[in-house]
Amino acid sequence: LANTFQGDGYPLIASLALSGLAFSATFSMIRWLGPTFMKAGLKGVDMSKHQKKELPECMGAIAAMVYLLAVIIFIPFPFYKDIVAATSGGGNRDVVMHVEHVQEGRFLHRFPHSKLASYLSAVMALQSISLLGIGDDLFDIRWRHKFFIPAFASIPLLVVYFVDFGVTSVVIPLPLQPYLGELFNLGALYYVYMASVAIFSPNSINILAGINGIEVSQSIVIALLLAFNDCLYLLTPYLHPATDSHLFSLYFLIPFLGVSFALLWHNWYPARVFVGDTYCYFAGMVFVVVSILGHFSKTLILLLIPQIFNFVYSVPQLFGLVPCPRHRLPRFNARTGLLEPSVTPWTPERQPKPPVAWALKTLDKLKLLRVTLDEEGRFVETSNFTILNLWLVWRGPLREDRLAMEITGMQVVVGLFGLFVRHRLALIVFKQ
Ligand code: UD1
Ligand code: MG
Repeated sequence: LANTFQGDGYPLIASLALSGLAFSATFSMIRWLGPTFMKAGLKGVDMSKHQKKELPECMGAIAAMVYLLAVIIFIPFPFYKDIVAATSGGGNRDVVMHVEHVQEGRFLHRFPHSKLASYLSAVMALQSISLLGIGDDLFDIRWRHKFFIPAFASIPLLVVYFVDFGVTSVVIPLPLQPYLGELFNLGALYYVYMASVAIFSPNSINILAGINGIEVSQSIVIALLLAFNDCLYLLTPYLHPATDSHLFSLYFLIPFLGVSFALLWHNWYPARVFVGDTYCYFAGMVFVVVSILGHFSKTLILLLIPQIFNFVYSVPQLFGLVPCPRHRLPRFNARTGLLEPSVTPWTPERQPKPPVAWALKTLDKLKLLRVTLDEEGRFVETSNFTILNLWLVWRGPLREDRLAMEITGMQVVVGLFGLFVRHRLALIVFKQ
């Protein structure tokens, strides 16, 4: 492994080892601390079961804390060569990446402070999002307030991006180049775009939720696909210019996979713990951190297509055109033991406004919603606007784990297609 990867493979081995430890630590701490969390009031009812048992909530906080410890302990590893070179007064011919200039036949070595700054800003962003997530799990912050939480956590990343990289132009697709030129500079808007990605990613994972295991399994798929994408750059026969960015990305993704698999073990159907909003925010932020500091935020967007669909589909309920209940998770049918689409009821007094009614009926015709009308054509109920409910509209009632597996499988297929688009079709559209 050490020689397979371009650049330097040894820190990767350290990262894999630490991630193994992080897996075991998370795995056992979740078992030990479940009752402690429940005593502190962090618990929730598993709604899709015959026996409505209370389970520990917010166990993602343990995953996040172990993860943070792992990435902090890891700090010296990617820099060990630089530390050795910087403290021995140069002369180490191994260190070619950061040699500034040659003086009297000796290599003068400069420590890569900007790389360290990136790393530390990433740790800081993840620390703030975990704190804010725990705050949300404790106090149930209002949706419209917590929506912007991730924007604050992303400030350190944006500052480092500004100082370190600062590229704010996007490549224009070939057919549009005669009008807009090859590059289009978005300037400050590019930072607004990155902050929006930072707001979107954590929130979108939090609202694709409500059945055992789904928050963690979708996050694991996204992380695996991002790591696969990193390997495409690192396993090239030549030293790819983006090697450092993608190594950096792996250093943050591997321990994330370690703690997430441990959490999934306990959260998969039938769940023994819930992950809480902490995990959703934290996972979404890991993707933001690696993709902004690794300069591949557009690739991340391609991997979030199911989440984007779920968000866009949710808009009528999120923005109040259709009433939004506190929980929109699928409905458990106790007789069959299967999940069915959950619904929002309408009363004869409270009917959708004519344009909304028309839109709902059209969606029903397109099989994008299930609408129930009474004999007089009044709305009785409409299925809730989430991808999980829509999947059940299409597929019929499913058992909870079956639904989780199918949605996770869909995420894999769509994600692989996204990467294919990124690497193959982009060549045609952008001629890179
Ligand atoms: C988001 C969704 C909400 C969904 C909820 C489920 C939006 C706008 N919000 O809210 O519709 O119902 O996630 O997580 O789309 N639970 C289960 N089984 C599970 C997972 C969760 O029954 O497998 C229940 C438990 O009672 C748990 C609670 O959901 O305590 C957690 O809900 P929470 O994460 O606080 O909801 P939100 O993220 O605010
Ligand atoms: Mg949640």
